[in-house]
Amino acid sequence: MEPNLENKVAVVTGGSRGIGYSIAEALVRHGARVVIGSRNAADLAQAADALNKLAPSRVDAVETDVRDYKQVERLMARAEERFGGLDILVNNAGIGLFSPVEEISPEEWDAVIGTNLTGCFYCVRAAAPRMKRRGGGYIFNISSLAGKNAFAGGAAYNASKFGLNGFSEAAMLDLRYDGIRVSYIMPGSVETDFAHPGAHPGAHPGGKREPGRRSSWKIDPEDVAQAVLDLLRTDPRTMISRVEMRPSQPPRKQ
Ligand SMILES: NC(=O)c1ccc[n+]([C@@H]2O[C@H](COP(=O)([O-])OP(=O)(O)OC[C@H]3O[C@@H](n4cnc5c(N)ncnc54)[C@H](OP(=O)(O)O)[C@@H]3O)[C@@H](O)[C@H]2O)c1
Repeated sequence: MEPNLENKVAVVTGGSRGIGYSIAEALVRHGARVVIGSRNAADLAQAADALNKLAPSRVDAVETDVRDYKQVERLMARAEERFGGLDILVNNAGIGLFSPVEEISPEEWDAVIGTNLTGCFYCVRAAAPRMKRRGGGYIFNISSLAGKNAFAGGAAYNASKFGLNGFSEAAMLDLRYDGIRVSYIMPGSVETDFAHPGAHPGAHPGGKREPGRRSSWKIDPEDVAQAVLDLLRTDPRTMISRVEMRPSQPPRKQ
């Protein structure tokens, strides 16, 4: 059974490509009104156009850097102004930086923690009061298996995702009696341009790589979107608070 989201309003950060776009698309296909937010205006407009073709007048977009609380507040306010409230928040915006710890600059550290961790706090901080006004809601934090498995070169990214997991669990305990569920999803390798900064194809809303360049073993962004849909249709008395997803058959380690 798929969820019916016809009266629901969602905000998806990082909705212009990759996992965020797939989640926004899945929510729209199931009837939700969706506001996407990310930094690059051209990418955002292109994604919003593609989504609006699926669901005319049910998609909006706000240029947003989740590291800036005022911009986050504006993103959440748009959901209320345009669609009347906020029920679902998908904290998906994220960046990767993979360097040995002594080579990470303070600015790079701040960018990773600011986006992947503080940005999620800002979004929850701005969204929770609005969800309370609706009588409840659902918050998804897109974490990573890097939030439980540290690896060399992952100091900043691991720290951001380990932190996000702890943040999610505490927020879940704070918000549960307001009818707000919080889940965090920890995918392994997903087929997006995440690991190829600068390579994202503006010409492909959703950020999928051309078929010839796909690695068939990786998780498809649509599979992460399906996990969000599955959680949304769980009975409100139950909360699946943490989901791990991994490729079934990654290349064997030599
Ligand atoms: N791909 C993987 O293998 C994988 C695995 C596990 C977890 N994840 C997590 O999944 C999430 C999405 O990853 P993805 O693979 O879909 O990456 P992606 O294709 O690079 O997309 C990232 C999205 O986040 C936006 N973004 C980046 N910084 C932002 C900021 N400061 N404010 C607002 N938006 C921002 C980007 O747009 P702009 O650049 O225009 O802002 C883009 O829309 C991330 O949190 C990542 O850590 C990915």
